[in-house]
Amino acid sequence: MPLIPKLGQLSPLQMRFGACLSASLMLLLLYLALTKQHFAYAHELNSEDHNYRFSLEGEIIDAPEEKNTIITRAEDGVSALANNSPQNSNIGIGLTQNWVFPKDVIDGPHGDPGTGLPGEKAGLTQLEPEVHELRRRQSGTTVYITINTCLQPSSNVTDTIPPQLEMYISLDSSNQKPAPGSGTPVSVIGGYGVYEVDATSDVYVGISAPNTTDFSGIWNYELAASNDAPYHFFNGSKTPNLYFVDSDNHAALLITNDTTQALPNETVYQEWMKMDAPYGVFASNQDQRSILGVQRSFCGLRNNAKLAAKIDNVNDQNVATMTNRGIGGKPKEQFYITGLNATSKYWGMLVMEGNSTASGAGVVGGGGTVWAAIDFNTKSEGNCALMYNLSFCSEVAYAVPTNPNKFSPETGLPDLAALYDSNAAQMYQYFNYSLQQIPCNTTSSAQYSLARNCDDCARAYKQWLCAVTIPRCADYSNPSGYLKPRNVGQPFINGSSISSDPSLVAGQDQVLLAAVATNSSRNPLIDTSIGPGPYKEVLPCEDLCYDLVQSCPASLGFACPIAGKGLEESYGKRVNESEGIISCSYLGAAYYLSASSMLRPELSIFGVALLVLMFGIGL
Ligand SMILES: *[C@@H]1O[C@H](CO)[C@@H](O)[C@H](O)[C@H]1NC(C)=O
Ligand SMILES: *[C@@H]1O[C@H](CO)[C@@H](O)[C@H](O)[C@H]1NC(C)=O
Ligand SMILES: *[C@@H]1O[C@H](CO)[C@@H](O)[C@H](O)[C@H]1NC(C)=O
Ligand SMILES: *[C@@H]1O[C@H](CO)[C@@H](O)[C@H](O)[C@H]1NC(C)=O
Ligand SMILES: *[C@@H]1O[C@H](CO)[C@@H](O)[C@H](O)[C@H]1NC(C)=O
Ligand SMILES: *[C@@H]1O[C@H](CO)[C@@H](O)[C@H](O)[C@H]1NC(C)=O
Ligand SMILES: *[C@@H]1O[C@H](CO)[C@@H](O)[C@H](O)[C@H]1NC(C)=O
Ligand SMILES: *[C@@H]1O[C@H](CO)[C@@H](O)[C@H](O)[C@H]1NC(C)=O
Ligand SMILES: *[C@@H]1O[C@H](CO)[C@@H](O)[C@H](O)[C@H]1NC(C)=O
Ligand SMILES: *[C@@H]1O[C@H](CO)[C@@H](O)[C@H](O)[C@H]1NC(C)=O
Ligand SMILES: *[C@@H]1O[C@H](CO)[C@@H](O)[C@H](O)[C@H]1NC(C)=O
Ligand SMILES: *[C@@H]1O[C@H](CO)[C@@H](O)[C@H](O)[C@H]1NC(C)=O
Repeated sequence: MPLIPKLGQLSPLQMRFGACLSASLMLLLLYLALTKQHFAYAHELNSEDHNYRFSLEGEIIDAPEEKNTIITRAEDGVSALANNSPQNSNIGIGLTQNWVFPKDVIDGPHGDPGTGLPGEKAGLTQLEPEVHELRRRQSGTTVYITINTCLQPSSNVTDTIPPQLEMYISLDSSNQKPAPGSGTPVSVIGGYGVYEVDATSDVYVGISAPNTTDFSGIWNYELAASNDAPYHFFNGSKTPNLYFVDSDNHAALLITNDTTQALPNETVYQEWMKMDAPYGVFASNQDQRSILGVQRSFCGLRNNAKLAAKIDNVNDQNVATMTNRGIGGKPKEQFYITGLNATSKYWGMLVMEGNSTASGAGVVGGGGTVWAAIDFNTKSEGNCALMYNLSFCSEVAYAVPTNPNKFSPETGLPDLAALYDSNAAQMYQYFNYSLQQIPCNTTSSAQYSLARNCDDCARAYKQWLCAVTIPRCADYSNPSGYLKPRNVGQPFINGSSISSDPSLVAGQDQVLLAAVATNSSRNPLIDTSIGPGPYKEVLPCEDLCYDLVQSCPASLGFACPIAGKGLEESYGKRVNESEGIISCSYLGAAYYLSASSMLRPELSIFGVALLVLMFGIGL
């Protein structure tokens, strides 16, 4: 019999379940040192003046000769914007403030395109100066005016969202103070607005705070103009590039999509893996609605979101690191967010601070990027612990059964991880001995299969082993049909037990208590060394078992349980994945969902007004 004695060590598992054993973004651009002409506009900011208004008086002095045809006279109360240099201002209800991006700054020097993220082309190709000059004369220079709302007025009525600031544009020097009723309106949604134009003259901007009686206080906003790229950016891509992996009752793990499809031996791959994590995350409890109205604004989120990872000058930073865990083994960034409340829904927003290596004035895209929010939620009970970063089962990143009294959520996770990981590594070693007795690395005619070799078998076995010995844990109270109750024979963490509570030992529970599959855990180590009490398991996907059987030599004796005769007790099926359900556990699983439905662009009153203006439809 080719069955290998050491495999017998796994027999409890095998017997119990018939388990198969014996089974960027900002195209980086340019920094622009303020030129003399800029200083002619940007007067000293008067700190006494709470509205930060500084005006442009008179003509431009020292205007270069080639520009002496465009001497402009800006009106009082119109402040100048320099390139990639945000202005921050408070604005009271019902007021309008006016700004100008002057023609000579528009035609002035561009910012410095940064190095870019690995694999990205560094910035927009910088045109030769002569070519650039030509293009400008012909079609104007592309200009981006962007606004971020940083603070909003408040209301004593809960659950009301303040109206959005309004932005108006004028390219006409006879209308230097665009305001409601004059100038082109630009929609501001979620605290973000962008206006792009090929400018051949000064660009005048009006920012208006709508009249409202339901709110008190002020708005605060950041306005920026750039001849390189939008200084602030909201990426409204339908896939927000942030995915929820799993949570426990106080922490959650989020990941980005793969940042590159390069192979591990390529430079781009290696650059990603060794770089400082470029993205950040803001998160906010959905019970706290302060981010509503500023959810597309970097400074709005910075001021209102309570949780952050990889954001400068924020206390209580959460973990953000690069990893290549998951299907395909490509680089991605992961965020481990802690300090969450149990049984709560959260919003998570991927962001990039500035261009990822620099932010603020002088940096092209220095105002940062925000992606659409995703939803995630925390578990209710304390006996599932989110684990990632194991050394042997390195692909494990989900909640596992725990006992918070033995493994403290604050300090005990490394011990818990080591316990599960060393158990799996030891079992793998037994398998390795067995595999060494199989002719693997021989000529292909002597190999057990032409399609698979022992490396495939070893890989499939490791996948299967980690998924089976480290079960994915869910709340016992979670009613989802694909979850399997486990360990109901043990008392809950709080000491009460199903068997001792007669009110609980009714019908269904009686059945659970009587069956080994449900009254204990699939890995005996969990019951003996951890003692999590009753929990539910997301069963490993059945394809893990089939892959193992197909990848390994028949002489190892692997077989999967048969449908109707144990398969359903041990393995789950992948169903409804597109609806964001992880109905079975596989390594690298994440909830690949689209953006939060609650934070879809709500049409502000102003947005409605704009639609009416643009399409003449009556809403
Ligand atoms: C607010 O109302 C006042 C008085 O009617 C008006 O002068 C002002 O333009 C209004 N502001 C806005 C932003 O509509
Ligand atoms: C960010 O901007 C700075 C200054 O402009 C530049 O040196 C740097 O290369 C940029 N970073 C990236 C990732 O492009
Ligand atoms: C909200 O405050 C205003 C004064 O700021 C007051 O007139 C109004 O009655 C308050 N509304 C509620 C619902 O408390
Ligand atoms: C927006 O983000 C997506 C990833 O979610 C990315 O593929 C796309 O290039 C971004 N768009 C812009 C304009 O940066
Ligand atoms: C991740 O990005 C790739 C392109 O790089 C895209 O094909 C894939 O659909 C994205 N995955 C998800 C889940 O959005
Ligand atoms: C990387 O490895 C693949 C096969 O794994 C090979 O085809 C490719 O040529 C290698 N590329 C480089 C740059 O070494
Ligand atoms: C947790 O809940 C408390 C009380 O409701 C709240 O004050 C706190 O901000 C919440 N924390 C998080 C991170 O959601
Ligand atoms: C992951 O584990 C390694 C050691 O195995 C440790 O050095 C590293 O700090 C851990 N990373 C995180 C994010 O916990
Ligand atoms: C089995 O163990 C040997 C010696 O410890 C090691 O060299 C080999 O890589 C292992 N094989 C597999 C498939 O892990
Ligand atoms: C087969 O041989 C290759 C290299 O010769 C080695 O890397 C691999 O670990 C061997 N596989 C097994 C299962 O021993
Ligand atoms: C679990 O079920 C087995 C088989 O029915 C039974 O022998 C055992 O006593 C049960 N264990 C508990 C803790 O109820
Ligand atoms: C103990 O915890 C379980 C699961 O969390 C819960 O259903 C039960 O009501 C609790 N019992 C007591 C006495 O608190």
